[in-house]
Amino acid sequence: MERLTSPPRLMIVSDLDHTMVDHHDAENLSLLRFNSLWEDAYRHDSLLVFSSGRSPTLYKELRKEKPMLTPDITIMSVGTEITYGNSMVPDDGWVKVLNTKWDREIVKEETSKFPELTLQSETEQRPHKVSFYVDKTKAQAVTKELSERLEKRGLDVKIIYSGGMDLDILPQGAGKGQALAYLLKKLKTAGKLPVNTLVCGDSGNDAELFSIPDVYGVMVSNAQEELLQWHAENSKNNPKIIHATERCAAGIIQAIGHFKLGPNLPPRDVSDFLECKVENANPCHEVVKFFLFYERWRRGEVENCETYLASLKSACHSNGIFVHPSGAEKSLTDTIDELRKYHGDKQGKKFRVWVDQVLATDTTPGTWVGKLDKWEQCGDERKGCTTTVKFSSKEGEAEEGFMWLNVQQSWSEESAVKDDSNWII
Ligand code: GLC
Ligand code: MG
Repeated sequence: MERLTSPPRLMIVSDLDHTMVDHHDAENLSLLRFNSLWEDAYRHDSLLVFSSGRSPTLYKELRKEKPMLTPDITIMSVGTEITYGNSMVPDDGWVKVLNTKWDREIVKEETSKFPELTLQSETEQRPHKVSFYVDKTKAQAVTKELSERLEKRGLDVKIIYSGGMDLDILPQGAGKGQALAYLLKKLKTAGKLPVNTLVCGDSGNDAELFSIPDVYGVMVSNAQEELLQWHAENSKNNPKIIHATERCAAGIIQAIGHFKLGPNLPPRDVSDFLECKVENANPCHEVVKFFLFYERWRRGEVENCETYLASLKSACHSNGIFVHPSGAEKSLTDTIDELRKYHGDKQGKKFRVWVDQVLATDTTPGTWVGKLDKWEQCGDERKGCTTTVKFSSKEGEAEEGFMWLNVQQSWSEESAVKDDSNWII
């Protein structure tokens, strides 16, 4: 958050399962579309917040399974754990708030008297969250009875039913909505209250997000009955909330457009990059565009034509150097020439490329340093490189834009495989 010098233009607070992540989309296309839009148009001046029911353990598992971006802030375990940045620094202030009228031992004791409740896995039991599975038909009655019993024991809890099967018990002050309210207050104090906030969800534990004042909200098309019902009863006439016609991340993109919150055309939806001119040119756009082209080139989805390579080369400085993660160096133009032999080599394979945390700074006038993580997935194997690109702006030249000066890569810490073979750029 420190990188933002002014209030974020947009803060997206999104649930993960069945909202940002579509478990029925094996190709992850809507997620990859969202990723390209975020990195291209929002990363530099906006905030991405993931708010999930998952514990840190299951959240990390999901990150390995799906091509997810790195959020600025991660809210886990149904709003009971807030962490910041890449290194996921916990918000200790939030933990203190949650200790009010909460005693998980009493919760365990009382819930053990309900045979209808089946305890979820150990990883999902957290300091301020006790979670069960319960049949849809019994959920309401159990919730009512349990809240009465816990109240008698002096606790003030919140019981949330999600996905037609999960029952979470949390301190009354917890939950995704309260966590967001806490965060907004904190941002306001720091003078960084977002210009716009968009909350995105699909199930019961997301309902609270939609009741936070002044936020825009999207219930994705595939939202669960329990959320739609909550909306019908509580916020039906709020014009700031829509039920998208698109699933998951595609519904989020739809909402950005519907509420006019900023650009809503993902670069991944653009078929011809040579035609793709953006207002307010930014080197981040060059990077996003290049790696999308690279994916299509290797998938054989763009024509094997010299015009493309010539256009790429014309954007590279003639003395530009590429440092491969292995440490080997070659010129940028040779690197582009080499691409020729890889055209279509990933045709018919599950090959995807995406970029994460693309940020550029203009350290000296006319020069930009872009930093990003570039990921490549082929089948089940995923590799990532921290990439630094130096650009100069082609100001004053007939064709404005950016010139690639050099590119340097090293294996990302999280990269499961650090194998130099088959890594082109
Ligand atoms: C996630 C969590 C689970 C929780 C559910 C609903 O699936 O892993 O513990 O019950 O979200 O909040
Ligand atoms: Mg969900």
